[in-house]
Amino acid sequence: MHNSPATQHPDLIVGIEYADDAGVFMAPGGDALVQTVDFFTPIVDDPFDWGRIAAANALSDVYAMGGDPLTALQLVGWPRGVIGFDVLERVIEGGLSVMEEAGCTVVGGHSIDDPEPKYGFAVTGIVEPGRLQTNAGARPADQLVLTKPLGTGIITTALKAGKVDEELARYCIETMAELNAGASLAMAAVNAHACTDVTGYGLLGHLRELLTSAGVSALIEVDQVPLMDGVEELLEAGFFPGGSQRNLEEVSPHVTSDVEPAWLQLFADAQTSGGLLICVPPAEAQDLLDRLEEHECFESAVIGEIHSGAEGTIRLVR
Ligand code: CO
Ligand code: CO
Ligand code: CO
Repeated sequence: MHNSPATQHPDLIVGIEYADDAGVFMAPGGDALVQTVDFFTPIVDDPFDWGRIAAANALSDVYAMGGDPLTALQLVGWPRGVIGFDVLERVIEGGLSVMEEAGCTVVGGHSIDDPEPKYGFAVTGIVEPGRLQTNAGARPADQLVLTKPLGTGIITTALKAGKVDEELARYCIETMAELNAGASLAMAAVNAHACTDVTGYGLLGHLRELLTSAGVSALIEVDQVPLMDGVEELLEAGFFPGGSQRNLEEVSPHVTSDVEPAWLQLFADAQTSGGLLICVPPAEAQDLLDRLEEHECFESAVIGEIHSGAEGTIRLVR
């Protein structure tokens, strides 16, 4: 199916045969279009917050590729007659507030009657071809920089059970609603080699895509990986979503670990609207961290490095 003529074109730079989440197509005139679509079922109770998170999440793939979001189309599935349209209005207000913050114009959309609410966007961005980042350029010795703390899958699962205190819940929601725009600008100012955003496949799953695309391996220093406060306790209490469990099973055969098994669970946890994972040459890692701090990505950290060696494998060390 991926070899269909419908998925081939001389101006298609990144298509669906790559593991990148967004496609890139040369537009007449010299810029490239970055296009992506993301929508999901409610992740938090508050409709306004859900809308914000859905928008930030949909924009993220454009930022991960070094692009600037330009326009978006809204996607809505709504159980008409079961949940009031006043609730949907709050979802949309949340989504549009983040689109406005991103400077991305919402030009239309489509809604259907759906037993389970769904919300998201198809986003189009532009990128100068010279500034395009894909997940395929990692080189040995590159430092791996992560720009948001992990834990959203575990925390939102515990949240649904009412087991998360107000402060952590708010922190987790604000982190998910935060745009990767600042992180993308920081990345554009250094000579980054590759980038992906950390979402549904978790840190390890997205890292593995990056490694297999470039034929390299990675070492992760577990103590350097930023985690949301309290996520380890929630994992211990048994909160681990089904999607994260599938990620864990998928990635485990490719991971060598010198550390406690809980680290693998934390790093396999499916993230919503997670941070960027950026590969940067060692000499520029500190510069990137400084720029990330300027852009208020306060929990950014170097979490490991790229090695040559068994393609697609990950080693966890303390
Ligand atoms: Co996407
Ligand atoms: Co992505
Ligand atoms: Co329509």
